[in-house]
Amino acid sequence: MRISDDTIRQIHDATDIVEVVEEFVSLKKKGQNWWALSPFVDEKTPSFTVSPSKGIYKCFSTGKGGDAISFVMEMEGIGYIEALKYLAKKYGIEIEEEELTPAQQETQSFKESLLIALNHAKNFYQDNLKVGEGKAVGASYFKERGFDWEIIEKFELGFALNKWNAFEENALKNGFKSEILEKAGLVIKKEEGKSYDRFRGRVIFPIHNVSGRAIGFGARTLKKDEKPKYINSPESEVYHKSQILYGMFQAKKSVREKENCYLVEGYTDVISLHQEGIENVVASSGTSLTEEQIALIGRFTKNITILYDGDTAGINASMRGVNLILEKGLDVKIVTFPDGEDPDSYVKKIGGEAFKAFLEKNQKDFILFKTALGLDEAKNDPLKRAEVIRDIVETIIKIPDSIKQSVFFKECSNLLEIDEEVLIEEGNSILLRAQKKKYNQQRHDGGGKSMPPSVEALIPEEKKKESVDPVMAFQERECIRILLEYGKEKDEDENRLSDFMISEIDQISFSTPVYRKILEVYKLETGKGNFVDARFFIHHPDADIKSEVVNLISEKGTISETWEKKFKIIVPEKDAKLHKVVYSNILRLKYRTIKKLCAESMELLKNSTTEDEVIENQKIYFELKQQENELAKELGITYS
Ligand code: UTP
Ligand code: MN
Repeated sequence: MRISDDTIRQIHDATDIVEVVEEFVSLKKKGQNWWALSPFVDEKTPSFTVSPSKGIYKCFSTGKGGDAISFVMEMEGIGYIEALKYLAKKYGIEIEEEELTPAQQETQSFKESLLIALNHAKNFYQDNLKVGEGKAVGASYFKERGFDWEIIEKFELGFALNKWNAFEENALKNGFKSEILEKAGLVIKKEEGKSYDRFRGRVIFPIHNVSGRAIGFGARTLKKDEKPKYINSPESEVYHKSQILYGMFQAKKSVREKENCYLVEGYTDVISLHQEGIENVVASSGTSLTEEQIALIGRFTKNITILYDGDTAGINASMRGVNLILEKGLDVKIVTFPDGEDPDSYVKKIGGEAFKAFLEKNQKDFILFKTALGLDEAKNDPLKRAEVIRDIVETIIKIPDSIKQSVFFKECSNLLEIDEEVLIEEGNSILLRAQKKKYNQQRHDGGGKSMPPSVEALIPEEKKKESVDPVMAFQERECIRILLEYGKEKDEDENRLSDFMISEIDQISFSTPVYRKILEVYKLETGKGNFVDARFFIHHPDADIKSEVVNLISEKGTISETWEKKFKIIVPEKDAKLHKVVYSNILRLKYRTIKKLCAESMELLKNSTTEDEVIENQKIYFELKQQENELAKELGITYS
């Protein structure tokens, strides 16, 4: 199923953001905009505003913002397609869906059959818990663990009878095909004619997808030392372990409200915390986090708090996944528990309220935690210490937000008692080494053809993805802001400002991914002769672009003074002469780029091994240095 482009356009045209928002919050008009108490936080003064002319909302308390579609997605906790359907219904637009091919239809109905079988199984296991063996053994087990009936129902817990074919017989009697039962992972087929239930004599934890349908099961033994402790459903067409987090269906509302998601290891941790009133919790089911799982959390919140068992082995193992979380721009905190306790046992021991207070008191920022832990392990061993530093720097350079990154460089430099500059340099050289390796690799793959490194090749691939320089990011952002706000202005000769700017920065590749993306789209559209402004980007399907542009235009002219003090940037005032602002923005962008290239080229020069390499790199370095000096002069920057 796919909604046609034409329908999407109709929905965009019909949608009035004020009407949409008003269904959820009561708005008051003030000047051009409408204001309300934020629906995302508990607040006394309104910080939530809707701009009908721009078609966007913005919440200054949480930083959330977007168009009508993202508002509906946010409030209803639904996806893009569902939000479109919601709006279509509201405005009486008929949805034109593009036809599925017969092959697509077939996979669709195969998946549906699996889901129906899995949900039949879920009901079967649930019913077992109410009578006979299930009641005597299964329900008492849950009771012993302190799960009350309400929570058992909420998580749809169940029991698989200790018989070889109890489920299979029931399912066949109800008309399910044995092939479907096998593909759903419920029944195991041996040789022809012989088959048996996968789960037997165990309590059942259904695993739900985000919309609440059972897609798999975890089945726990009741015997003390039996291995494996859990038998889980295998992968199937509807159950992809790497994409699922246990408990997300039950947690998502609370995750959104609390703007935080607790991450635990086990099924029982999730359930016990729910029972004690902590509902924003999901489990990774004992494996390390995948990118898809992180993205799943990212749909609901940007904040993750990892709750770990006491042992360091566990901490070290799961740390590997954390760089991945940071890379996605999420904030990570960590709480560790006393030895031998997991969240389930600890919440039982001290109770819900004390547990909440414990979390509040013991949560530490992940990077700082890791730094302290590393230092502690390295003690007075200088080699170990160097390793720890490198490791921390590798983590920090994963953070896509350059401002946050600079904060971490600063804080870790305090903890490690090392000059901040040294850490940043280490970060740059890690990036550069990676690039060099890649460059040599490419050279190697290219059949040994030796080509001289171009200036472009000097910019490490990683750096193209992640801005390391907050000042650069700021200037890039300013450039985009000016383009979006003033791009259409013309000078006396009828030249558009946007044309002038684009031709001036043609040689520069932006270092911050989202600004680079925006600039590319901007160039493309203006190149086609289309005029592009903020409105255009607000409807852009790329979520990063959308939210960045919303941020940019909502905070017009409110750039903080600290920038000026901290980075000696001249912050453009609203009434400043536009051309002066534009000109200095461009100069500064160029200056920053050249400076960066210069430093990197020096590094290459230092690492040159053959004489040819030295000569080639020297030439590049001096050319760059000369350009840097000229720009510095023009900007009135004195340099050492
Ligand atoms: P734990 O061993 O910590 O189990 O494994 P638990 O959830 O705390 O269970 P209780 O409290 O002993 O009853 C954590 C998670 O790892 C997965 C499960 O998802 C479990 O919840 N696991 C563990 C398996 O899949 N298979 C196993 O054999 C063990
Ligand atoms: Mn446990």
